[in-house]
Amino acid sequence: MALACIADSVVTVTDEAQLDAFMANYDVKAEHNKPIFVLSGGSNVLLPAHLKATVLCPIMRGIHLTAQTDGYVDIEVMAGENWHDLVTYTVAQGWYGLENLALIPGLTGAAPVQNIGAYGVQLEDYLQFVRAYHLPTKTWHHLSVADCEFGYRDSLFKRAPNTWLISCVRFRLHTDVSKVLASYGDVQAVAQRYAEQQQRQQANPADVMQAIIDIRQQKLPDPKQLPNCGSFFQNPIIPQSQFAALQKSYPAIVGYPMPDAMIKVAAGWLIEQAGLKGDGIAPIVTHQQQALVLTNHTPHQATQDDVAAAQQYIADVVYEKFAIQLSREPVWVNPDGSIGYDEHVV
Ligand code: EPU
Repeated sequence: MALACIADSVVTVTDEAQLDAFMANYDVKAEHNKPIFVLSGGSNVLLPAHLKATVLCPIMRGIHLTAQTDGYVDIEVMAGENWHDLVTYTVAQGWYGLENLALIPGLTGAAPVQNIGAYGVQLEDYLQFVRAYHLPTKTWHHLSVADCEFGYRDSLFKRAPNTWLISCVRFRLHTDVSKVLASYGDVQAVAQRYAEQQQRQQANPADVMQAIIDIRQQKLPDPKQLPNCGSFFQNPIIPQSQFAALQKSYPAIVGYPMPDAMIKVAAGWLIEQAGLKGDGIAPIVTHQQQALVLTNHTPHQATQDDVAAAQQYIADVVYEKFAIQLSREPVWVNPDGSIGYDEHVV
């Protein structure tokens, strides 16, 4: 989001032994030690103007093939690997599964924290385990998919912030070039065009990846050009009965069925229908092509307070119209490195 932020100290973590050495001298309870805040690529955090914490940045690199059969490969990826580069690398190798998650900004180590998901795939679908350091006890752990307690945009790591530092993620990817997941929106049609250009009958995972790159580039602003942190609000999940009532007044409302008679409503649609496309509180306004994305028009000058003001305004207008409370999706960081929940929306 390119918010103005200065931290008291930053420690880059280049390998696991270095983290052990740093933590050996770090007394978690000592008063002179500042609280620890773990920062990965920074693409999904809202940082305070002054971060009075010791910031640990895991930047260890490496992609290791640990098993290979006719049907699958296992790879271990270090936390500092760029996520999108990993996706394009695996697809080029003929290792498939991550293609629907192309162009998501950030680093691999942060991907499990919010169980990144797009176009029908979530990270947990291809994850085997996470190797992570437990900061309070200074011990290393392997966490299975069940241990990670994944949910929609959620995990154990997200619910216990600054407790774990993820160093490595192991994936099991498949090698079946005919297996793709392209049912979401325009993905199938765009991927099919790519296949036909190459005289192939059916879209393969590389075509799907290219389609998703195109679709994302059309709708989502590049954070390097126009700072943003992707979806700013979560898609709210409401009871079927409330959805049915809204449908009477708004027949075009967009929702997807969820378990337990709940419906996930497209927050972007709600924001657009509330007349807020391109609106907000300057310099933080919603994007013209995708109302779910808030953009920062004064990079490195706007602060967290500006974001809070725009969030509050948008959430209030949507609530007045639809009686649906929008929750923030990116992580709000308090000055002491702790995580703030949605106290800014009343
Ligand atoms: N819509 C509007 N107006 C808008 C935006 C969306 O009417 O301004 C409608 C669309 O027409 C569509 C529906 O809302 O019918 C859903 O929109 P879209 O398919 O673009 O997906 P989304 O629900 O807005 C979610 C994720 C995205 C992810 C896409 C694709 C969340 C909060 N967001 O967005 O994630 O890329 O699906 O799977 O779940 C991110 O987290 O940063 C992110 C971009």
